[in-house]
Amino acid sequence: MLLSLVVATDFLSAGVHAQTTVIPSDSFSSVSRFEQFWNYLYPLGSDHNGSGRMVGSSSDHSHINPAGGTLTLIATPTSNPVPPTSTANPNPAIHYASGVVHAKSQITVTSTQSWTIQGEFSAPTAKGTWPAFWLTAVQGWPPEADIGEWKGTNNNWYNTFNTSAVVRSDLVAWPADLSFHSLKAVLTAESNGKDVRIDFYMDNALRATQFGAGFVGKAMWLIVNLQMEGSSGSPGPSGTTTYKARNVLVTHT
Ligand SMILES: *[C@@H]1O[C@H](CO)[C@@H](O)[C@H](O)[C@H]1NC(C)=O
Ligand SMILES: *[C@@H]1O[C@H](CO)[C@@H](O)[C@H](O)[C@H]1NC(C)=O
Repeated sequence: MLLSLVVATDFLSAGVHAQTTVIPSDSFSSVSRFEQFWNYLYPLGSDHNGSGRMVGSSSDHSHINPAGGTLTLIATPTSNPVPPTSTANPNPAIHYASGVVHAKSQITVTSTQSWTIQGEFSAPTAKGTWPAFWLTAVQGWPPEADIGEWKGTNNNWYNTFNTSAVVRSDLVAWPADLSFHSLKAVLTAESNGKDVRIDFYMDNALRATQFGAGFVGKAMWLIVNLQMEGSSGSPGPSGTTTYKARNVLVTHT
């Protein structure tokens, strides 16, 4: 009942037909609401390709905190982590405890199902901070499409990977003041039934269009993470870093 009310509200406010809401915009309103739509950590666990080890669970919200409509991810320097290096390729040294979540629902673009993925973000841009809002393949890799990725400069990177070496990146200026700005990606199958067109928006203005080769029919995870160092350079901050997301809304036709 509650879910159908949410769907109706999004339907009216978006002014479009036949949208199905997969993640409603209030999923960060409370821990219990969050846990209906999101899992703690990466699909494969706590470690990935930067120096942050992700920490969070139903009983620990010190690095992953959904409350009052905002998801706050918090990185803090950590000493003597065990094990001292990431268990994920390329096994960087762990320097931070931080946070990541992934959507329980997988996202699969098909010829009849276009997806819109959006949210508002307060993203740190200091050297060594590497927040992201991105899609990555459930099986194998790519597909990957990065809707938000900040690598220690005042830019957001939109990226689509056809292969590890064939990548399209478009950069848009991103304010350093931690103000919230919206990002959106609309993913639609091309008429060849294989490739996916991705239109990327910032603050509701179209900023880039990219194409993912063979993304149709491939399930993807949606991830919100505060990774550290890695592609953003090092050393990262000596203090606490905070990345916030709100009004994340995922719909498909
Ligand atoms: C590392 O993770 C970022 C997202 O945080 C992603 O854009 C990038 O492709 C990943 N790189 C590798 C080598 O896995
Ligand atoms: C990825 O593949 C699509 C579909 O073939 C193509 O349109 C796009 O240009 C490719 N991207 C790059 C960076 O080559």
